Amino acid sequence: MSREIMQNKIKQAEKEISKKKDDVQAGRMRQHYHFMPQTGWLNDPNGLIYYKGKYHFFYQYNPYYGFWDYMHWGHAMSEDLLHWEYLPLALAPSEVYDDYMRGGCFSGSAIEHEGKLWLMYTGVANHGNGNVQTQCIAYSEDGVHFTKYEGNPVIMPPDDVPAHLFRDPKVWKHEDTYYMVCGASRNERAQALLYKSADLLHWDYVNVLAESRGEWGYMWECPDFYPLGDKYVLTCSPMGADDRKAVYFVGDFDYATGRFDWKISGEMDWGMDFYAPQSFETPDGRRLIAAWANEWECMPFWKDWGPTYREGWCGFFNLVREVKMMPDHTLQFVPVEELKNLRTDGYAEDRLEIGSAGQELKAGDGISFEMQFKIDLEKTHADRIELDLRCGDGKKTSCIFDLKSGTLSVDRSNADGWSNGASRSILFLKGKKELDVHIYSDQSSVEIFTDRYQNNHANNIYAGNSQNKIQIRAVGGSAVLKDYRSYGMKECFR
Ligand code: FRU
Repeated sequence: MSREIMQNKIKQAEKEISKKKDDVQAGRMRQHYHFMPQTGWLNDPNGLIYYKGKYHFFYQYNPYYGFWDYMHWGHAMSEDLLHWEYLPLALAPSEVYDDYMRGGCFSGSAIEHEGKLWLMYTGVANHGNGNVQTQCIAYSEDGVHFTKYEGNPVIMPPDDVPAHLFRDPKVWKHEDTYYMVCGASRNERAQALLYKSADLLHWDYVNVLAESRGEWGYMWECPDFYPLGDKYVLTCSPMGADDRKAVYFVGDFDYATGRFDWKISGEMDWGMDFYAPQSFETPDGRRLIAAWANEWECMPFWKDWGPTYREGWCGFFNLVREVKMMPDHTLQFVPVEELKNLRTDGYAEDRLEIGSAGQELKAGDGISFEMQFKIDLEKTHADRIELDLRCGDGKKTSCIFDLKSGTLSVDRSNADGWSNGASRSILFLKGKKELDVHIYSDQSSVEIFTDRYQNNHANNIYAGNSQNKIQIRAVGGSAVLKDYRSYGMKECFR
């Protein structure tokens, strides 16, 4: 019966998608190669997994319109991480613990167990006393049609954790045991709680894996935890930590105590649009992440979710990135190798001398492109290099490499007549001979990677197609660029 209710909800949603998808597909602002939904609203990546020879992406999804509401789980499958086949929705609100308009099936993760695909998600209900978040299970024989476990919820909020601040389970297996980390708040401080289970259905609380001591906000959304090299990595999106939106911690972990002892922390992306990253492993052992290219209204950079709701959609993922570790245990977030398969129209210059008059750079059609170069710091005497992307109609998005004051800023306040704000990070150049820059531009976003993929900015912009020029200029002296390479990008989502 309960299975039937969910299947009917899914059918209803699918009907709505079929009705609208051609119109939405024609939207001018849709991305060319960033993962996005067919219609409606998308936020967090959920349940990312390589299962039975294919990649599966699930996502927080409202199929009905381009705003957050009534969370379902969308589902898509791919062989190459670039081209995606949309599958029927995996989860829809249907039960007393998850059927609520301003709630539903919140974020979670996926794992393979006894050949089946299992999902663990947060059910969000409200029976008049505020939102209640509980951890729930669903499973599937075919990886497409899911059944919610009849013993749900499998974990209730601990007594001293507010019931509306207990969510986003991420599951993994170690030896014969399943473990799960979940975001929570206790005494107004963020915590990542650790649980364990032998069968994914019966869970025991282990410990507080890690917590804010006041410096990392009051709630951690979408915590993730995984081994990398000989260390462990915890990532999360803290609430109440101002500019910090997607942070990582690197340290050591002891299964005997369930304690994570981290010494290193960093920001995964300083841009305004990178939130709730989730990781998964590839068959060849790479640790990849996908994130939602936006943020919530409670965050300091937030303006709105962009104008795309007018086209019946909102939301896409940032490019999938590989997590790599430097010898000092800080992390790099490198766009996946697979993206090279989208390259077309290659262009190369081994050396470019840039003066104050500036010059135009060539990269694809100037809208959807990849660009890579190095700033030769030994031959560059400029105070500042200004790289303007998506220029035209008197508008531009400015990346300012301020070599004198040691900052990188990406300013979108004159980007499109809609967006505003600038993202900023420290550009630490002492002792360096060159600065690597790698940029991906798509219809409605730019992603800038510098300094060995440790200093990244993902920002959404909604520039029109007449904004297709790229300009670069040096201020206060000349600059030398080496190994300039650029490409157009093949379509995946249009
Ligand atoms: C993060 C988040 C999660 C929650 C989901 C709801 O972006 O707020 O904590 O599960 O989105 O859609």
